[in-house]
Amino acid sequence: MKKIILSLVSIASLQAFAADPIVGKNIYMTSPPIPCATCHGTDISKNTANILKGKSSVVISSAIASNKGNMGMYASSLTTAQIDDIAAYIINPNGTVANPSISLSSNVVNFPATEVNKASSIQSIVVSNTGTANLVISGLFLAGFDSNDFILSGSCNANTSIIPKNSCSIGIVFNSKTVGSKSASLTIANNTDHSQTVNLSATAISTPIITPIQNPIPSPKPIIKPPISGPILVPKDHPAVRNEREYQHKNERFERNDRDVEKNKNCNKKDCNQDDDHRFK
Ligand code: HEC
Repeated sequence: MKKIILSLVSIASLQAFAADPIVGKNIYMTSPPIPCATCHGTDISKNTANILKGKSSVVISSAIASNKGNMGMYASSLTTAQIDDIAAYIINPNGTVANPSISLSSNVVNFPATEVNKASSIQSIVVSNTGTANLVISGLFLAGFDSNDFILSGSCNANTSIIPKNSCSIGIVFNSKTVGSKSASLTIANNTDHSQTVNLSATAISTPIITPIQNPIPSPKPIIKPPISGPILVPKDHPAVRNEREYQHKNERFERNDRDVEKNKNCNKKDCNQDDDHRFK
């Protein structure tokens, strides 16, 4: 019955199960209001009341629609998928059907503490098909208050079909704008009996204050004192000292001469002589 309901769900999402003879046999033997077997017998190979015409679901449907042998009672109780399953059973009474099966590497992902506005390292979930028919991922859905803080990537996407014994992977990165504990759930919708859910949890921490690396305080350079020394004493009668004195004398004479020349240019003789007397006496 559970499988029947799931068949309905898969029809709704346009991912019908293959008609299942095992399910069909179960309906044939037990389905209310009266099992088919009540009128057609438990051994269909005997073809009681033309049951073997039922290898086509169209024939069963029209028998119901035309109320053959009161079969109109099924008009509101059997779905198209169930009729398909019955037909599959009549075609293949001992048949089995291949089914996909989903297995996850984990149903929980915990992220290490991550700074706000920074992407965490990528965490991944491996989705494997452990069944015998193709596993079809119909969608990946993030839900929960913090679902916007988790970003998905990877090879598992809506409509990814995974053949038996193969897998795809979902990459998940956490990146939050606000500090605090965050959680979300990731649902992997697929064509098996049940969708799978992965619980995601993470903590966003504030950006640490970065203190600059302190340079060591430079040790003061030793003050190098010059060796104590006095003026170099040169004896007064040293030739260098004598020459220096002579040089100064000559210079004084030249300077005096220059001043005289300058004065004579700008004055008459009388004034200049007076000046001469006044200044250089
Ligand atoms: C109350 C008895 C009764 C039940 C229950 C019943 N049937 Fe029938 N069914 C009949 C009778 C009577 C016929 C007509 C036989 C004939 O045409 O000779 C018939 C005919 C059929 C036929 C042949 C239709 C055709 O076009 O010739 C199929 C297929 C069939 N039933 C399938 C089913 C299935 C499947 C179920 C169960 C979901 C079912 N029946 C339940 C009585 C029943």
